[in-house]
Amino acid sequence: MTTDFLFRRPRRNRKTEAIRAMVEETRVTVNDLIFPLFLIEGSNKKTEVASMPGIFRLSVDLMLKEIEECLKLGIRAFDVFPAVEDSYKDKTATRSYDSSFFYLKALREIKAKFPEACIITDVAMDPYSSDGHDGLVKDGKILNDETLEILGKMALAQAETGIDMVGPSDMMDGRVRYLRDVLDKNGFSEVSIMSYTAKYASGFYNPFRDALDSAPKFGDKKTYQMNPANRSEALIEAQLDTEEGADFLMVKPALAYLDVIRLLKDNSVLPIAAYNVSGEYAMVKAAAQKGWLDGDRIMKETLLSIKRAGADVILTYFAKEFAMTQRT
Ligand code: PBG
Repeated sequence: MTTDFLFRRPRRNRKTEAIRAMVEETRVTVNDLIFPLFLIEGSNKKTEVASMPGIFRLSVDLMLKEIEECLKLGIRAFDVFPAVEDSYKDKTATRSYDSSFFYLKALREIKAKFPEACIITDVAMDPYSSDGHDGLVKDGKILNDETLEILGKMALAQAETGIDMVGPSDMMDGRVRYLRDVLDKNGFSEVSIMSYTAKYASGFYNPFRDALDSAPKFGDKKTYQMNPANRSEALIEAQLDTEEGADFLMVKPALAYLDVIRLLKDNSVLPIAAYNVSGEYAMVKAAAQKGWLDGDRIMKETLLSIKRAGADVILTYFAKEFAMTQRT
Protein backbone atom coordinates (compact mmCIF):
# COMPACT_ATOMS: atom_id res chain seq x y z
CA MET A 1 0.00 0.00 0.00
CA THR A 2 1.37 3.40 -0.92
CA THR A 3 0.68 6.39 1.28
CA ASP A 4 2.73 8.93 -0.67
CA PHE A 5 -0.34 11.10 -1.11
CA LEU A 6 -0.56 11.52 2.67
CA PHE A 7 1.92 14.36 3.09
CA ARG A 8 -0.60 16.28 5.20
CA ARG A 9 -1.08 14.46 8.49
CA PRO A 10 -3.04 16.49 11.07
CA ARG A 11 -2.38 13.76 13.61
CA ARG A 12 1.23 14.99 13.91
CA ASN A 13 -0.12 17.89 15.97
CA ARG A 14 -1.84 15.47 18.32
CA LYS A 15 0.99 13.05 18.92
CA THR A 16 2.16 14.09 22.40
CA GLU A 17 0.67 15.84 25.38
CA ALA A 18 3.25 18.63 24.99
CA ILE A 19 2.29 19.30 21.39
CA ARG A 20 -1.44 18.98 22.10
CA ALA A 21 -1.08 21.58 24.84
CA MET A 22 0.84 23.88 22.50
CA VAL A 23 -1.81 23.89 19.78
CA GLU A 24 -4.79 24.06 22.15
CA GLU A 25 -7.07 26.81 20.82
CA THR A 26 -9.48 27.39 23.70
CA ARG A 27 -8.88 27.44 27.43
CA VAL A 28 -11.28 27.97 30.27
CA THR A 29 -9.85 29.65 33.35
CA VAL A 30 -11.34 30.79 36.65
CA ASN A 31 -11.16 34.36 35.31
CA ASP A 32 -13.91 33.50 32.82
CA LEU A 33 -16.42 32.35 35.41
CA ILE A 34 -19.21 34.00 37.38
CA PHE A 35 -20.73 31.97 40.22
CA PRO A 36 -24.50 32.44 40.75
CA LEU A 37 -25.47 32.26 44.44
CA PHE A 38 -28.87 31.90 46.13
CA LEU A 39 -29.44 34.00 49.24
CA ILE A 40 -32.04 33.29 51.96
CA GLU A 41 -33.05 35.32 54.97
CA GLY A 42 -31.74 34.48 58.44
CA SER A 43 -28.49 33.14 59.79
CA ASN A 44 -26.76 29.78 59.75
CA LYS A 45 -29.17 28.53 57.09
CA LYS A 46 -28.19 26.22 54.28
CA THR A 47 -30.63 24.19 52.20
CA GLU A 48 -29.75 22.21 49.11
CA VAL A 49 -31.74 22.81 45.91
CA ALA A 50 -33.25 19.38 45.23
CA SER A 51 -32.82 19.57 41.47
CA MET A 52 -29.30 21.07 41.71
CA PRO A 53 -27.12 18.71 43.76
CA GLY A 54 -24.23 20.61 45.38
CA ILE A 55 -25.96 23.99 45.11
CA PHE A 56 -27.34 25.54 48.29
CA ARG A 57 -29.50 28.46 49.32
CA LEU A 58 -27.40 30.26 51.93
CA SER A 59 -28.04 32.87 54.59
CA VAL A 60 -25.66 35.82 54.44
CA ASP A 61 -23.23 34.57 57.12
CA LEU A 62 -22.69 31.32 55.24
CA MET A 63 -22.60 33.13 51.91
CA LEU A 64 -19.73 35.26 53.18
CA LYS A 65 -17.83 32.05 53.98
CA GLU A 66 -18.67 30.62 50.57
CA ILE A 67 -17.42 33.74 48.81
CA GLU A 68 -14.23 33.68 50.87
CA GLU A 69 -13.58 30.07 49.82
CA CYS A 70 -14.30 30.87 46.19
CA LEU A 71 -11.99 33.89 46.21
CA LYS A 72 -9.19 31.64 47.48
CA LEU A 73 -9.87 29.37 44.51
CA GLY A 74 -9.66 32.30 42.11
CA ILE A 75 -13.39 32.85 41.47
CA ARG A 76 -13.86 36.60 41.76
CA ALA A 77 -17.31 37.29 40.31
CA PHE A 78 -20.65 36.38 41.89
CA ASP A 79 -24.25 36.88 40.81
CA VAL A 80 -26.47 36.94 43.88
CA PHE A 81 -30.17 35.99 43.64
CA PRO A 82 -32.64 36.26 46.54
CA ALA A 83 -35.05 33.46 47.47
CA VAL A 84 -37.96 35.40 48.95
CA GLU A 85 -40.68 34.05 51.28
CA ASP A 86 -44.20 34.23 49.85
CA SER A 87 -45.36 36.53 52.63
CA TYR A 88 -43.00 39.25 51.31
CA LYS A 89 -44.24 39.06 47.73
CA ASP A 90 -46.73 41.48 46.23
CA LYS A 91 -47.97 42.70 42.84
CA THR A 92 -45.41 45.51 42.60
CA ALA A 93 -42.34 43.81 44.07
CA THR A 94 -42.11 46.43 46.79
CA ARG A 95 -39.41 44.59 48.74
CA SER A 96 -37.06 44.74 45.79
CA TYR A 97 -36.23 48.35 46.58
CA ASP A 98 -36.73 48.35 50.36
CA SER A 99 -33.24 49.06 51.69
CA SER A 100 -34.01 47.21 54.93
CA PHE A 101 -34.84 44.00 53.03
CA PHE A 102 -32.45 41.10 53.65
CA TYR A 103 -31.17 40.94 50.05
CA LEU A 104 -30.04 44.56 49.97
CA LYS A 105 -28.60 44.36 53.48
CA ALA A 106 -26.66 41.24 52.54
CA LEU A 107 -25.22 42.87 49.40
CA ARG A 108 -23.95 45.72 51.55
CA GLU A 109 -22.29 43.24 53.94
CA ILE A 110 -20.76 41.25 51.11
CA LYS A 111 -19.26 44.33 49.45
CA ALA A 112 -18.00 45.67 52.78
CA LYS A 113 -16.22 42.40 53.56
CA PHE A 114 -14.93 41.68 50.04
CA PRO A 115 -14.52 44.97 48.17
CA GLU A 116 -12.30 43.18 45.65
CA ALA A 117 -15.04 40.74 44.61
CA CYS A 118 -17.19 41.62 41.60
CA ILE A 119 -20.78 41.47 42.81
CA ILE A 120 -23.56 41.30 40.26
CA THR A 121 -27.23 41.67 41.11
CA ASP A 122 -30.38 40.54 39.36
CA VAL A 123 -32.87 43.12 38.13
CA ALA A 124 -36.29 41.57 37.50
CA MET A 125 -39.51 41.40 39.48
CA ASP A 126 -40.02 37.63 39.63
CA PRO A 127 -38.37 36.79 42.98
CA TYR A 128 -40.50 39.47 44.69
CA SER A 129 -43.67 39.25 42.64
CA SER A 130 -46.82 37.47 43.83
CA ASP A 131 -47.51 36.83 40.13
CA GLY A 132 -44.11 35.21 39.61
CA HIS A 133 -43.52 37.29 36.49
CA ASP A 134 -40.55 39.49 35.63
CA GLY A 135 -42.81 42.46 34.98
CA LEU A 136 -45.92 44.12 36.34
CA VAL A 137 -49.10 42.17 35.58
CA LYS A 138 -52.43 43.77 34.73
CA ASP A 139 -55.43 41.85 33.39
CA GLY A 140 -53.19 38.93 32.55
CA LYS A 141 -50.74 41.10 30.59
CA ILE A 142 -47.16 42.08 31.37
CA LEU A 143 -46.89 45.87 31.23
CA ASN A 144 -43.64 47.12 29.76
CA ASP A 145 -43.24 50.81 30.56
CA GLU A 146 -44.78 50.61 34.03
CA THR A 147 -42.33 47.81 34.83
CA LEU A 148 -39.38 50.02 33.91
CA GLU A 149 -40.15 52.33 36.82
CA ILE A 150 -39.98 49.45 39.28
CA LEU A 151 -36.81 48.09 37.71
CA GLY A 152 -35.28 51.54 38.00
CA LYS A 153 -36.01 51.72 41.72
CA MET A 154 -34.67 48.19 42.16
CA ALA A 155 -31.41 48.85 40.30
CA LEU A 156 -30.89 52.09 42.19
CA ALA A 157 -31.44 50.40 45.57
CA GLN A 158 -28.95 47.71 44.56
CA ALA A 159 -26.39 50.26 43.35
CA GLU A 160 -26.63 52.01 46.70
CA THR A 161 -25.28 48.87 48.40
CA GLY A 162 -22.00 49.25 46.53
CA ILE A 163 -22.36 46.40 44.02
CA ASP A 164 -20.37 46.45 40.80
CA MET A 165 -22.86 45.42 38.15
CA VAL A 166 -26.58 45.06 37.65
CA GLY A 167 -27.99 42.25 35.53
CA PRO A 168 -31.40 43.05 34.08
CA SER A 169 -32.89 39.60 33.36
CA ASP A 170 -36.45 40.78 32.73
CA MET A 171 -36.45 41.32 28.93
CA MET A 172 -38.62 44.46 29.02
CA ASP A 173 -38.06 46.78 26.05
CA GLY A 174 -35.88 49.79 26.74
CA ARG A 175 -34.78 48.77 30.19
CA VAL A 176 -31.05 49.10 29.56
CA ARG A 177 -31.47 52.73 28.54
CA TYR A 178 -33.83 53.36 31.42
CA LEU A 179 -31.50 51.81 34.00
CA ARG A 180 -28.43 53.59 32.57
CA ASP A 181 -30.30 56.84 32.91
CA VAL A 182 -31.47 56.25 36.48
CA LEU A 183 -28.02 55.08 37.57
CA ASP A 184 -26.22 58.01 35.92
CA LYS A 185 -28.62 60.62 37.27
CA ASN A 186 -28.06 59.32 40.78
CA GLY A 187 -24.28 59.28 40.71
CA PHE A 188 -23.80 55.63 39.81
CA SER A 189 -22.24 56.03 36.40
CA GLU A 190 -19.59 53.49 37.40
CA VAL A 191 -22.10 50.70 37.95
CA SER A 192 -22.01 48.40 34.90
CA ILE A 193 -24.92 46.77 33.12
CA MET A 194 -24.67 43.13 32.14
CA SER A 195 -27.76 42.84 30.00
CA TYR A 196 -29.63 39.60 29.47
CA THR A 197 -29.77 40.40 25.76
CA ALA A 198 -30.97 37.19 24.15
CA LYS A 199 -32.89 35.46 26.91
CA TYR A 200 -35.05 32.68 25.57
CA ALA A 201 -38.36 31.32 26.89
CA SER A 202 -36.69 28.08 27.89
CA GLY A 203 -37.54 24.86 29.66
CA PHE A 204 -34.05 24.87 31.16
CA TYR A 205 -34.91 27.32 33.99
CA ASN A 206 -37.05 24.99 36.10
CA PRO A 207 -34.46 24.10 38.76
CA PHE A 208 -33.75 27.83 39.24
CA ARG A 209 -37.45 28.51 39.74
CA ASP A 210 -37.48 25.69 42.33
CA ALA A 211 -34.51 27.30 44.05
CA LEU A 212 -36.23 30.67 44.30
CA ASP A 213 -39.80 29.41 44.34
CA SER A 214 -40.37 31.93 41.56
CA ALA A 215 -42.35 30.06 38.91
CA PRO A 216 -45.03 32.17 37.18
CA LYS A 217 -48.41 31.80 38.89
CA PHE A 218 -50.19 31.80 35.53
CA GLY A 219 -49.21 31.53 31.88
CA ASP A 220 -45.64 31.59 30.65
CA LYS A 221 -42.96 34.15 29.82
CA LYS A 222 -43.33 34.03 26.04
CA THR A 223 -44.47 37.63 25.62
CA TYR A 224 -41.14 38.88 26.92
CA GLN A 225 -38.57 36.09 26.65
CA MET A 226 -37.54 35.12 23.12
CA ASN A 227 -38.77 32.29 20.95
CA PRO A 228 -36.12 29.52 20.91
CA ALA A 229 -36.56 29.34 17.14
CA ASN A 230 -35.17 32.84 16.53
CA ARG A 231 -31.72 34.08 15.63
CA SER A 232 -32.25 37.41 13.84
CA GLU A 233 -34.20 38.66 16.80
CA ALA A 234 -31.09 38.16 18.95
CA LEU A 235 -29.32 40.65 16.67
CA ILE A 236 -32.10 43.20 17.14
CA GLU A 237 -31.81 42.84 20.92
CA ALA A 238 -28.01 43.04 20.74
CA GLN A 239 -28.14 46.20 18.66
CA LEU A 240 -30.62 47.85 21.02
CA ASP A 241 -28.74 46.87 24.19
CA THR A 242 -25.53 48.21 22.69
CA GLU A 243 -27.13 51.52 21.71
CA GLU A 244 -28.82 51.73 25.10
CA GLY A 245 -25.50 51.47 26.94
CA ALA A 246 -24.97 47.85 27.99
CA ASP A 247 -21.45 46.86 29.02
CA PHE A 248 -21.93 43.12 28.47
CA LEU A 249 -24.36 41.23 26.25
CA MET A 250 -25.64 37.91 27.55
CA VAL A 251 -27.07 34.86 25.84
CA LYS A 252 -29.19 32.56 27.98
CA PRO A 253 -29.39 29.55 28.15
CA ALA A 254 -25.98 28.58 26.75
CA LEU A 255 -25.86 25.01 25.48
CA ALA A 256 -28.91 24.92 23.24
CA TYR A 257 -27.92 28.41 21.97
CA LEU A 258 -24.23 28.07 21.12
CA ASP A 259 -24.97 29.39 17.63
CA VAL A 260 -26.49 32.53 19.13
CA ILE A 261 -23.41 33.06 21.30
CA ARG A 262 -21.27 32.88 18.16
CA LEU A 263 -23.66 35.15 16.29
CA LEU A 264 -23.42 37.88 18.92
CA LYS A 265 -19.65 37.43 19.26
CA ASP A 266 -19.21 37.95 15.51
CA ASN A 267 -21.53 40.94 15.41
CA SER A 268 -20.54 42.88 18.50
CA VAL A 269 -17.45 44.41 20.00
CA LEU A 270 -18.87 44.14 23.52
CA PRO A 271 -17.86 41.24 25.76
CA ILE A 272 -20.30 38.34 25.48
CA ALA A 273 -21.56 36.50 28.53
CA ALA A 274 -23.33 33.14 28.42
CA TYR A 275 -25.50 31.72 31.19
CA ASN A 276 -24.97 27.98 31.65
CA VAL A 277 -28.36 27.72 33.36
CA SER A 278 -29.79 25.57 36.13
CA GLY A 279 -31.33 22.93 33.84
CA GLU A 280 -28.02 22.45 32.06
CA TYR A 281 -26.34 21.90 35.42
CA ALA A 282 -29.11 19.54 36.56
CA MET A 283 -28.82 17.35 33.43
CA VAL A 284 -25.10 16.80 33.95
CA LYS A 285 -25.49 16.13 37.67
CA ALA A 286 -28.36 13.69 37.17
CA ALA A 287 -26.52 11.68 34.53
CA ALA A 288 -23.34 11.68 36.63
CA GLN A 289 -25.24 10.49 39.72
CA LYS A 290 -26.59 7.59 37.71
CA GLY A 291 -23.10 6.77 36.55
CA TRP A 292 -24.08 7.35 32.94
CA LEU A 293 -21.60 10.15 32.30
CA ASP A 294 -18.31 11.24 33.83
CA GLY A 295 -19.51 14.44 35.51
CA ASP A 296 -16.07 16.00 35.76
CA ARG A 297 -15.28 15.51 32.08
CA ILE A 298 -18.70 16.69 30.97
CA MET A 299 -18.40 19.83 33.12
CA LYS A 300 -15.11 20.74 31.46
CA GLU A 301 -16.27 19.86 27.96
CA THR A 302 -19.44 21.88 28.47
CA LEU A 303 -17.63 25.00 29.67
CA LEU A 304 -15.13 24.62 26.85
CA SER A 305 -17.91 24.45 24.26
CA ILE A 306 -19.44 27.68 25.56
CA LYS A 307 -16.10 29.46 25.47
CA ARG A 308 -15.30 28.08 22.00
CA ALA A 309 -18.68 29.30 20.77
CA GLY A 310 -17.53 32.82 21.63
CA ALA A 311 -18.41 33.54 25.24
CA ASP A 312 -15.94 35.77 27.07
CA VAL A 313 -17.52 35.04 30.43
CA ILE A 314 -19.70 32.18 31.64
CA LEU A 315 -22.21 32.26 34.47
CA THR A 316 -22.18 28.73 35.79
CA TYR A 317 -23.15 26.72 38.86
CA PHE A 318 -20.02 24.68 38.13
CA ALA A 319 -17.75 27.65 38.91
CA LYS A 320 -16.52 26.47 42.31
CA GLU A 321 -16.29 22.84 41.31
CA PHE A 322 -14.31 23.77 38.21
CA ALA A 323 -11.98 25.96 40.24
CA MET A 324 -11.35 23.08 42.63
CA THR A 325 -10.21 20.87 39.75
CA GLN A 326 -7.74 23.58 38.66
CA ARG A 327 -5.81 23.48 41.93
CA THR A 328 -2.44 21.86 41.59
C1 PBG B 1 -35.63 35.51 36.08
C2 PBG B 1 -34.42 34.68 35.97
C3 PBG B 1 -34.44 33.33 35.61
C4 PBG B 1 -33.12 32.89 35.64
C5 PBG B 1 -32.31 33.97 36.00
N1 PBG B 1 -33.14 35.08 36.19
C6 PBG B 1 -35.55 32.41 35.34
C7 PBG B 1 -36.68 32.84 34.54
O1 PBG B 1 -36.58 33.68 33.64
O2 PBG B 1 -37.77 32.34 34.83
C8 PBG B 1 -32.71 31.49 35.33
C9 PBG B 1 -31.36 31.04 35.68
C10 PBG B 1 -31.16 29.59 35.65
O3 PBG B 1 -32.02 28.80 35.21
O4 PBG B 1 -30.09 29.16 36.09
N2 PBG B 1 -35.51 36.86 36.12
